[in-house]
Amino acid sequence: MTTFTKGLQGIVAAQTVKSLVMGEVGRLLYAGYSIRDLAEYATFEEVVYLLWHGELPTPDQLADLKARLAVERKLPEVVVATLHALPTDALPMDALRTGVSALGAAYPKAAQVDEAGAIAVLARVPGIIAAFHRVRQGLEPLAPRADLDYAAHYLYLLSGHEPTPAQARALDVYLLLTADHGLNASTFTARVVASTLSDLVSAVVAGIGALKGPLHGGAPSEVVKMLDEIGDAANAEAWLKGALARGERIMGFGHRVYRAEDPRADVLRDLAQTVATPARYALARTTEEYAIPLLEAHRPGRKLYTNVEFYSALVMEGVGLPADLFTPTFAASRAAGWTAHALEQVADNRIIRPDADYIGPAERPYPVVELV
Ligand SMILES: CC(C)(COP(=O)(O)OP(=O)(O)OC[C@H]1O[C@@H](n2cnc3c(N)ncnc32)[C@H](O)[C@@H]1OP(=O)(O)O)[C@@H](O)C(=O)NCCC(=O)NCCS
Repeated sequence: MTTFTKGLQGIVAAQTVKSLVMGEVGRLLYAGYSIRDLAEYATFEEVVYLLWHGELPTPDQLADLKARLAVERKLPEVVVATLHALPTDALPMDALRTGVSALGAAYPKAAQVDEAGAIAVLARVPGIIAAFHRVRQGLEPLAPRADLDYAAHYLYLLSGHEPTPAQARALDVYLLLTADHGLNASTFTARVVASTLSDLVSAVVAGIGALKGPLHGGAPSEVVKMLDEIGDAANAEAWLKGALARGERIMGFGHRVYRAEDPRADVLRDLAQTVATPARYALARTTEEYAIPLLEAHRPGRKLYTNVEFYSALVMEGVGLPADLFTPTFAASRAAGWTAHALEQVADNRIIRPDADYIGPAERPYPVVELV
């Protein structure tokens, strides 16, 4: 006898050593290390190694990973040609999904379900996003460089300018904070695909598809839209009340798992202050201060607090990313988690195949029409 749980809430569908989400107390660990410590002491590449191997790298292992990522940055010609063939007003998430898919068809190494495959895909995700962003502006994609770390290199590929150390570090911390998060919708999706013994690119492409939705990875650009609409802190309360009265969701608040503040929001709030303009930061703070009690009044006891997306929006805006690249940039970090989980899934595999609760009509006769 099985019971149906909408949204699979509370259903344990995998065992993992990658990350532990402690929803009631608002804590997040990657392989035992708190996200707060990682944000203070580690870099995105160290977190990638941790997710793939379960341990932090030694200096030699880190140098080796960075070198291997750097040599895998060049995009196959067919990937660039595919991005050129897309309409310039295509959604960047659609372009990323298409570009990664083309990579899988053109570069078999990226399809391998092993660390070499994971490096081949992860190293190229920023390049695909940046190439499309340049192509849609009528610019040529830039040749990759080997002397910049993942976050700084991504910002360089977009603009042709090296970011400031503060910008590079802000994006680096954003990327490491969002690299993995338990069995979130896109990671579950990637694991389902991996469990069929499909290839790594297919798992990543499926993850991109799941991340695109506004209830998962699409929220930060909506946060920017909301802050633009509010415009001035004096309007925040009325705007939020109006949105709730219309039955709308306030983007950047609420979480499936956290019943306390999202621990990543706390780190991102401080980080946002290093790159956002003071006026933008003040508007966000005021909006947050009004939103939390209003959400409590709206759904008493539901504990709807600030989630990762709210201040992610400010950090990404602060480092110069246009709002429609926020979700692709999230994919550039979460691809580390997707690949880690895909590898973990195949290492001890059983195809993921749940049951459905059939609620349609009982068996009935086919309405055969007699021909006259
Ligand atoms: C993240 C999210 C999808 C979690 O969804 P969930 O666990 O399924 O939570 P539910 O949709 O069951 O929400 C529970 C209740 O709180 C309300 N609620 C949840 N988040 C809300 C929000 N941000 N604004 C207004 N109401 C919200 C829901 O309307 C629901 O009310 P109902 O039971 O009367 O229908 C949800 O909080 C949300 O849509 N947030 C805004 C989008 C966002 O920021 N996404 C990024 C997530 S990291």
